Amino acid sequence: MIGIFDSGYGGLTIFKEIEKLLPEYDYMYLGDSARAPYGGLTKNTVTRFSKEAVDFLFKKGCSLIIFACYSASALALREIQQEYLSTIRKHGNKTRNVLGVIRPVVEYAATRSKKHKIGVVGTQATIASGAFEIELKQRNPKLRIITQACPLLVPFIEEHSHTTPEARAMLKKYLAPLKRSGIDTLVLGCTHYPHMLADFKREM
Ligand code: DGL
Repeated sequence: MIGIFDSGYGGLTIFKEIEKLLPEYDYMYLGDSARAPYGGLTKNTVTRFSKEAVDFLFKKGCSLIIFACYSASALALREIQQEYLSTIRKHGNKTRNVLGVIRPVVEYAATRSKKHKIGVVGTQATIASGAFEIELKQRNPKLRIITQACPLLVPFIEEHSHTTPEARAMLKKYLAPLKRSGIDTLVLGCTHYPHMLADFKREM
């Protein structure tokens, strides 16, 4: 069974795509809606919550867990893979694994940009972590990366008010520096932003 974990319901967009590609597997989805959003929390807190989610999903019988959450992937995944998982494996559970969403997105984005100039938008926590920059530079050191935290977009989307003029005005403000920078590729590094995909496209 594959476990899919997100801070809330946003990761369902990612779950749906995984299920389309791998319909033969069983899935369990865990959204930590009671403690979401994660995007403004510290690394320690996100790591603690993510470890609890990992424990829960392993106990339920998952052998692979996918963090369908950019904030958890950016802040907690490395520690969970390097320290936590290796401890679990030492105790005999060798088949268990945890993967995130940043690397696959980076692999795709790094091959798309002809101008080698990529923009990344995400939560405050994801952008401050520098995770996208590190991964993108590892793929291609020539890339120029322009990042922008968009902390108010998740609350707008959660409240279903992302189609209001206020939400669109906020998006315009966030995207203005990215537009000026001349990027040719923009990574939507947050589970919620696909809900505003048409607005992102129109604005850019
Ligand atoms: N799931 C989070 C992410 O992709 C967005 C919502 C939150 O801040 O918890 O970063």
